[in-house]
Amino acid sequence: MAQRGRNDTSGARPSTRPFAFFRAGARPDPSVADKPILVMDDVYKYFQPDVPTLRAVNVRIDRGEFVFITGPSGSGKSTLLQLIYRKLSADEGSILFCGRDIARLTRDSIPYLRRNMGVVFQDFKVIGHWSVFENVAVALEILEMPQRLVRARVSEALERVGLSGRGEDRTANLSGGEQQRVAIARAIVAEPALLIADEPTGNLDATLALDILTLFEEINQAGTTVLFATHDHALLSARAHRLLVLEEGRLTEAQKGLAGWATRVSRAHA
Ligand SMILES: Nc1ncnc2c1ncn2[C@@H]1O[C@H](COP(=O)(O)OP(=O)(O)O)[C@@H](O)[C@H]1O
Ligand SMILES: [Mg+2]
Repeated sequence: MAQRGRNDTSGARPSTRPFAFFRAGARPDPSVADKPILVMDDVYKYFQPDVPTLRAVNVRIDRGEFVFITGPSGSGKSTLLQLIYRKLSADEGSILFCGRDIARLTRDSIPYLRRNMGVVFQDFKVIGHWSVFENVAVALEILEMPQRLVRARVSEALERVGLSGRGEDRTANLSGGEQQRVAIARAIVAEPALLIADEPTGNLDATLALDILTLFEEINQAGTTVLFATHDHALLSARAHRLLVLEEGRLTEAQKGLAGWATRVSRAHA
């Protein structure tokens, strides 16, 4: 609410477009250019009274970062991500996305927020009986983009994920790794500023998992901020990205990467 634009002098103009569309890499609005993409300040989420699933979560993520989020099953990784793409709302604290508080947005503002985000899940969530093209194009069609532009953008996204020329294939006929690439193409086709991945390699074998991680890194290098949740230690130790750790709903920064965190955990259990 503090972020209502300075130019917003007239109370009469309805707020039909509460969010600018922050494209990857681009900085269309100078007022957000120097703001971190995400700041969580003392965030709490409760599913039961008095037992917070997330407690006092504080974190700042800058534009262009690649961030791993890890922690044991049930530690709150998915809950944390769901607060960011607003499947859930926070009970306490603030969540600033490009400087705007999204912790408790009204329902009609959520689609505008989500235009700035792509989300990839463990189970792909692609439509098997649709073609590869249709699965990716749907993300642009809901934005009412003209068909000619849709075709160009979808084929570009398919090329980025290594599925050039596969647009007409029935998605169910693709392998698991390929189906996850379709889901990634759908997540990036609108060029969101933030790409959120919730255990995206959980259903893939070790080699494919590393390929998919590499694909997210390429997308990151092209300008998209990436939040990648995984509990796969092989992936976490393969790369030296910034590492956030959730344990019993508390988020901490693993200062020395996985090695530092693993040492601390094994000492605690000794
Ligand atoms: N919609 C929900 N309703 C009630 N409890 C939930 C809900 N979502 C998650 N939880 C609980 O919150 C905790 C964290 O879950 P989750 O965020 O899925 O953890 P992770 O993704 O790290 O495995 C778990 O105890 C889970 O049972
Ligand atoms: Mg989860």
